[in-house]
Amino acid sequence: MEKTLSIIKPDGVKKGLIGEVIKRFETNGIKIAAMKLIEMTKEKAKGFYTVHSKRPFFESLTDFMSSGPCVVMILEGENVIEKNRKLMGATNYKEAEQGTIRYDFATDIEKNVVHGSDAPDTAAFEMGYFFADIDLL
Ligand code: CDP
Ligand code: MG
Repeated sequence: MEKTLSIIKPDGVKKGLIGEVIKRFETNGIKIAAMKLIEMTKEKAKGFYTVHSKRPFFESLTDFMSSGPCVVMILEGENVIEKNRKLMGATNYKEAEQGTIRYDFATDIEKNVVHGSDAPDTAAFEMGYFFADIDLL
């Protein structure tokens, strides 16, 4: 079974989408192996998005990600990295497929409701960034 990190970003939590996002995971056969509500400091957000540290959107993105509570989850299932990315939709909601989370709820290329790891190596780093083995069911 594969695992991946999902985040319901601060905009998603503010809009009351925690239940909606989790429902989409559960109805698509994805299991939640760990979950918590957290609020990131600016430093924590910078460490998480360190791969994007040279990008022009880095400052704004890390301000946004530390602007309020978010839900971090470890998702588990067959092919779950790709499956989650499909349910999320494209980074830019204007390019996202109909029926995806970002198509339905994102309002902005930055405020796009959810994060999902994009590969096994990034998933391993990102899960370890928020969870210890003991948190995993
Ligand atoms: O989240 P995803 O993997 O789809 O996209 P990314 O390219 O890894 O970018 C990470 C996050 O940065 C996005 O989800 C957006 O919140 C933000 N971003 C942005 O604000 N402006 C861009 N041009 C690209 C990404
Ligand atoms: Mg990414």
